[in-house]
Formats: sequence, structure tokens, C-alpha cells
Amino acid sequence: MRILLTGAKGQLGNCFQDCLPAGWDVWATDADVLDITDLNKVKSAVADYRPDVVVNAAAFTAVDKAETDHEIAALINEVGPKNLALAANEVGARLVHVSTDYVFDGEATTPYIETASTNPLGVYGKTKLDGEIAVSHHQPDALIIRTAWVFSEYGNNFVKTMLRLAQDRDSLGVVSDQFGCPTYAGDIAQAIIVLLQKKSAGGVYHFCGDQTVAWNEFAEAIFSSAIKHGVLAKSPIVNGITTSQYPTPARRPKYSVLNCEKIQNQGVILSPWKDRIDEIITIQPKYC
Ligand SMILES: NC(=O)c1ccc[n+]([C@@H]2O[C@H](COP(=O)([O-])OP(=O)(O)OC[C@H]3O[C@@H](n4cnc5c(N)ncnc54)[C@H](OP(=O)(O)O)[C@@H]3O)[C@@H](O)[C@H]2O)c1
Repeated sequence: MRILLTGAKGQLGNCFQDCLPAGWDVWATDADVLDITDLNKVKSAVADYRPDVVVNAAAFTAVDKAETDHEIAALINEVGPKNLALAANEVGARLVHVSTDYVFDGEATTPYIETASTNPLGVYGKTKLDGEIAVSHHQPDALIIRTAWVFSEYGNNFVKTMLRLAQDRDSLGVVSDQFGCPTYAGDIAQAIIVLLQKKSAGGVYHFCGDQTVAWNEFAEAIFSSAIKHGVLAKSPIVNGITTSQYPTPARRPKYSVLNCEKIQNQGVILSPWKDRIDEIITIQPKYC
């Protein structure tokens, strides 16, 4: 299996490289080597390497910044995946694309299935949805995996932010009225590998962590693991606050739990995220 990986320096990109099955070759690229917004470069890279699969882990993930940087967010999240689909088609490669729970408005009260109506609240979610539409239009057999609340030992994420703030704060206000499922990036990588090994049918699949929490509960789980593993001497007090007490440029869905039955039916295990925090929390200094 020859894989062309984009966004290789991001959370998912790094984790994907860490869990490649034996015998799979990967060309790991990031924007410095292969800018997915440049159609000519994408086409020539794909034509030269001739992958069996293109895994797109590249994205513009700065949710609040996207509100003001609409054009660049659309280029990376919509035009980039479209370019990859067009280039992949030319060599008969399959595209794996990753999307987000932010395509939903969060008004549901039960977990979202893949065919639920989308209605993104912000520019990031809208550009990611446009990327999904472009990919499925140009390559109907592509695998599109929507995931949520991603963390890992790499890059920037909520786990690292909480640990950093805990260094010098006795208490923290953390939003308690938005609910989702934290997801370890390495488990997304594993889910992609399973779908590829099983030659699963193309289309959208939901994948996330195995337990639903609010952000304040996620923070408490992080601190509890950090204390257990000696990373923190004492936990800050976590005070639940409302979304209105923590205004951000982009609105977030208040409930973005994904129904993952479709991907579980392919043999994929949901991300046991509390265990994953335990596993990665001692990885310093990458971690803090
Ligand atoms: N993070 C989350 O909480 C979350 C939640 C739901 C879904 N997702 C989705 O999951 C996927 C993986 O997210 P992640 O957290 O691993 O993202 P990430 O850590 O932000 O990594 C994205 C990578 O893409 C690179 N990139 C940006 N523009 C590019 C371009 N034009 N060409 C090639 N590479 C480019 C970035 O490079 P620079 O750093 O240099 O820009 C970065 O290395 C994304 O599709 C994201 O939308 C993420």
C-alpha cells in the first residue's frame, strides 16, 4: 500500500505515521513540501508518487481565526480536498478525507447520524462542509471521516492548553454547556487504517470518543490523569461557566455528539479517550 499523506506535521498526520501497518509506504508531506491548494503541484506530486491512497490530514483548524480569514480557510478546507480528489482520480487512487462535527449546528438532543441535516454555525464548519461536498462530488468512493474534539501528544489542543494553564492557576472557568466526545488522533488514524484494510464502501463515517462530556468535565479528567501520573502536584478548581460567559468569535455547537454505529459496524473501536490521556500524559516535553 502506497500512501500520500498531507498535513503530516499536524496531530492526525503525526499519529498516522506512528501507526502505519508493516509494509505500508508513506510519503509524508506538509504545506512546505506539498501545498494542497496548488492544483498543479498536487497533480504532479500524485502523478510522480502514484499512491494507492491519498490521506488528507491537512486543514485550516483555527476555528476562531477562520471567522476573519475566510478566504484562506476556504482554500485549504474546500479547494485543497477538491484538488486532491481530482489528482487522485487521475491515477486511480482512493481519497481519505477528514471532516468535523462542526458541520452541525448542535441543536440535536441525540447523537448525529451521517445523514443528519448539516447547518454549520461558523466559517470553519462551513468550509469543512464545502470540502466534504467537493470530495464526494469528484470522487464518490472517497472515505470521509467526521470526527470531534481531537487531542494528541502533538500540536496544539485542549489537553495541552489545560496543562499549561494549570501550571500557574488555582482555578479555571471552563465551559459546561457544550457537549461532545474527545477523540485521540491516533485512534482516528487506526480507524482510517481499518476502513482501508476492509475496503469499506465510500461515503461519510462518524468517529469519536466513547464517552460524552462537557468541556469542564474533559478538563477535570485531564487534571485527574495528570495528578495520577505525577505531571501536576495539585489540580486547579474547575468552575463550570456558560458559553455566554466565554464569548468567542466563532459560535460552537452546544451538542455535537456523533453516532458512530456505521463505523463500528466496520470493526472500528471507538476512541477510549480517558485511557489515551493516561497513555500520553507523561510524554514531556512534547506534551507541555
Ligand atoms: N483539532 C480538532 O479538534 C478537530 C476536530 C474535528 C475535526 N478535525 C479535523 O481533523 C483533521 C485533522 O486535524 P488536526 O487537529 O490534526 O489538524 P492540525 O493539527 O491543525 O494539522 C493540520 C495540518 O495541515 C497543515 N496545512 C495547513 N495548510 C496546508 C496546506 N495548504 N497544504 C498542506 N498542509 C497544510 C498544517 O500546517 P500548519 O500548521 O503549518 O498550518 C498542519 O500541519 C482536520 O481535517 C480537521 O478539520 C479536527
